[in-house]
Amino acid sequence: MSKYHITRFSIFGLKGGVGKSTIAYFLARELSEKYKVLLVDRDYTNTIGKIFGLQTGLLNVLSGDVQGKFVTDEGNLRVLSLTSFSPSSLPTVKDFAASYSEVLKGIEILITDNPPGVDDVTALEFKGYYEATGEVHCNGIFVTTPGIALDLTLSHLNDIGRTLRGIVPQASYFRASALVINMVRENLSDVVRNVALRVPGLKVIAIPFYKELLFQGFDKASASPDLGELISIVKGIVGGG
Ligand SMILES: Nc1ncnc2c1ncn2[C@@H]1O[C@H](COP(=O)(O)OP(=O)(O)O)[C@@H](O)[C@H]1O
Ligand SMILES: [Mg+2]
Repeated sequence: MSKYHITRFSIFGLKGGVGKSTIAYFLARELSEKYKVLLVDRDYTNTIGKIFGLQTGLLNVLSGDVQGKFVTDEGNLRVLSLTSFSPSSLPTVKDFAASYSEVLKGIEILITDNPPGVDDVTALEFKGYYEATGEVHCNGIFVTTPGIALDLTLSHLNDIGRTLRGIVPQASYFRASALVINMVRENLSDVVRNVALRVPGLKVIAIPFYKELLFQGFDKASASPDLGELISIVKGIVGGG
């Protein structure tokens, strides 16, 4: 038996600026009220890491480029930054897993915030996770804005899963657990109904456009998005769904 009992969620999207990091941040914060959560920032911009005072990423340190803090705890929430810039070289899966297995200790929910698409760091994280825990799976939470971005996301929804399956064929499952349509200015239930008709079975959530979020930055904004529906989907999966 593995000593790790972690349920993984990956925030994916085809585009930048659609709210992936925002959703990862608030989701991790809210879930950490009940669970031990690890939020992995694996965007090259270190968006979330910076909010938590992390100067650099674990992969930058392992490659010998820089030194600095890349992991921190805030109550039940642990935040790990993987990169603050594209590392000059990537460590072997074994070397990465040796560090990663320490960070994963005691964690119940892992949320990764990703840049658009899938790249070598995504692959390393999945392989390193498998090496460290002996198991791997993926609950994809896809984030998009309405309009053309939504159409593109729907037509590419299965691509990321296929690519990841090629990277870690040992995975127990890859699924699109939810589609979040963010920054919706129209009627929320109309938007959700339209997509549900196009992709039956997909869990679809719409989040309104919040002026405060755009102008104040999500870590300082007076408003936080209502993630109630997404939280209950996540809790359902963690509880054995
Ligand atoms: N529902 C929303 N309404 C308005 N602004 C939002 C909303 N969600 C996110 N934002 C803002 O959009 C910008 C981009 O969000 P971010 O999460 O960094 O996107 P991504 O990670 O996809 O690149 C940020 O300024 C964020 O505060
Ligand atoms: Mg981001």
